[in-house]
Amino acid sequence: MSKQKEVRILAIESSCDETAAAVVVDGRDVRSNIISSQIALHTIYGGVVPELASRKHIEKINQVIEEALREAQMTFDDIDVIGVTYGPGLVGALLVGVAEAKAISYARKIPLVGVHHIEGHICANYIENKELEPPFLCLIVSGGHTHLVQVQDYGVYEILGRTMDDAAGEAFDKVARAIGLGYPGGPKIERVARQGNPDAIPFPRAHVAGDGYNFSFSGMKSAVLNYLNSCRMKEIEIVQEDVAASFQQAVIDVLIGNAEKALEQTNMKKFAIAGGVASNAALRHAMEAVCTRHGAAFYHPSPILCTDNAAMIGAAAYYEHLAGRYAGLDLNAVPNLKLGERL
Ligand code: KG4
Ligand code: ZN
Repeated sequence: MSKQKEVRILAIESSCDETAAAVVVDGRDVRSNIISSQIALHTIYGGVVPELASRKHIEKINQVIEEALREAQMTFDDIDVIGVTYGPGLVGALLVGVAEAKAISYARKIPLVGVHHIEGHICANYIENKELEPPFLCLIVSGGHTHLVQVQDYGVYEILGRTMDDAAGEAFDKVARAIGLGYPGGPKIERVARQGNPDAIPFPRAHVAGDGYNFSFSGMKSAVLNYLNSCRMKEIEIVQEDVAASFQQAVIDVLIGNAEKALEQTNMKKFAIAGGVASNAALRHAMEAVCTRHGAAFYHPSPILCTDNAAMIGAAAYYEHLAGRYAGLDLNAVPNLKLGERL
């Protein structure tokens, strides 16, 4: 029997502040993964400025795609499918990637697949864990989302819990700004926290009422701000390292609390994490320990595949392609796209 032809996907991601393109073969084999970060641009403003993000995407996108093809030693003629993030995200930023993908699809007659950004984060786990297959539990912790989901099959998700207010990454970013670390907050808090005492300040661990798996982080962020204000008023020295370490520990405790509950109640034996905050080593170690206690296998992408990238979009696009779910040339950006929602 002849070997089935491999599926070569060119993936594009521009939902927030990274312009990214990748070539992924058969969903798990990354041939190139190019990311043009806008961190330097947004740092001066202390956060992502949507208008500037869109303008930077339009400037960089062709260059990033060319580089992705070159590194994969391919041309458009070798590409079988174009995958693009169409939501959720910043509308102007998403439109750049979507318009680019549609132009390539139209000019080259290559089928187009629209990818949900969060689904991309989940699928980042397939790239380095070739044996990982649904069903499994996945905690997605990014700048805009905090979701605990049961991945029932490729492209089939049951949302067990989500944040009721701020996302975990958003809380990291806001606290980092409050203690003078600046943008992007997560990696800076992680670095400073290594020198601090996680038990120094007892920030609250909010548990959302009910028997679900929802999260809340805004109270924790307010508690940090109140603590900083009261220190200033009482002229007590603020130890940045201890604030960072204690806050990080509080976030981790809340995340692993729900993760552990889900492992107990669903009896699933596979648990994955995804999204920018999943690159936090302290969170990874804590999650790994919980999984070991429950006899579950633990999966996490490398840090470069946790934060926004196009390789993960290529992985997700592959399973959409296998399911025959293609987008038309009327594909639009959907800034509030819900996980599991289809075109
Ligand atoms: O997934 P991502 O790159 O973009 C979104 O889809 O939102 O996540 C970015 C978020 C930011 O809030 C950033 O502060 C956080 O992930 N983050 C981290 C770390 N690296 C990135 N949070 C905690 N520790 C880190 N090492
Ligand atoms: Zn993301």
